[in-house]
Amino acid sequence: MMIIREFTPTDLKRVYEIENMSFDQSYGINMFKSLYDMGTGFLVAEVDGYVIGYILFWIKYQNQGHIISLAVDKNYRRMRAGTRLLSKAIQVLMLFNVANIYLEVNEKNCGAYEFYKSFNFKVDRIVPSYYASGDGAIVMYLPIGAGL
Ligand SMILES: CC(C)(COP(=O)(O)OP(=O)(O)OC[C@H]1O[C@@H](n2cnc3c(N)ncnc32)[C@H](O)[C@@H]1OP(=O)(O)O)[C@@H](O)C(=O)NCCC(=O)NCCS
Repeated sequence: MMIIREFTPTDLKRVYEIENMSFDQSYGINMFKSLYDMGTGFLVAEVDGYVIGYILFWIKYQNQGHIISLAVDKNYRRMRAGTRLLSKAIQVLMLFNVANIYLEVNEKNCGAYEFYKSFNFKVDRIVPSYYASGDGAIVMYLPIGAGL
């Protein structure tokens, strides 16, 4: 059975492992710990006690939510873990009266782009050379101010 719950520091190694298999560039284990210590929104998806995905999010400005990082273990994708993690984060951000949720997707990451489109995220702009690799980022946003 899949559950979504709050991150605890004992999940750190596993979250880092999932991040590593999912992105070329890593925030690194210390950054995850620092963000958690700062009180950033941090949820994990768990299947039978095994962490298979995570989402990190925060309120960047007064009414602007931001998805910092979201990833699901390669072996557990297309099982709705990403959907459940993002849905929960949206619910939390709505409680704080956030108007829009922003995120960046690598322009070459078609899967993630399709995933966010399935949530009704819209393209805001393209930022060339956003990533260290030289790849550009697609900035996407979801207006939630008036409810979904
Ligand atoms: C993007 C990601 C988080 C999606 O997680 P997931 O648990 O596999 O997604 P879900 O099962 O909830 O997918 C929901 C819907 O999104 C769309 N979708 C998800 N992955 C997709 C893909 N690779 N290609 C096309 N559409 C996709 C589909 O419409 C899917 O519904 P369906 O399976 O019924 O067709 C996951 O692929 C991942 O970790 N990718 C690497 C890291 C990443 O790119 N993170 C996002 C950038 S911050």
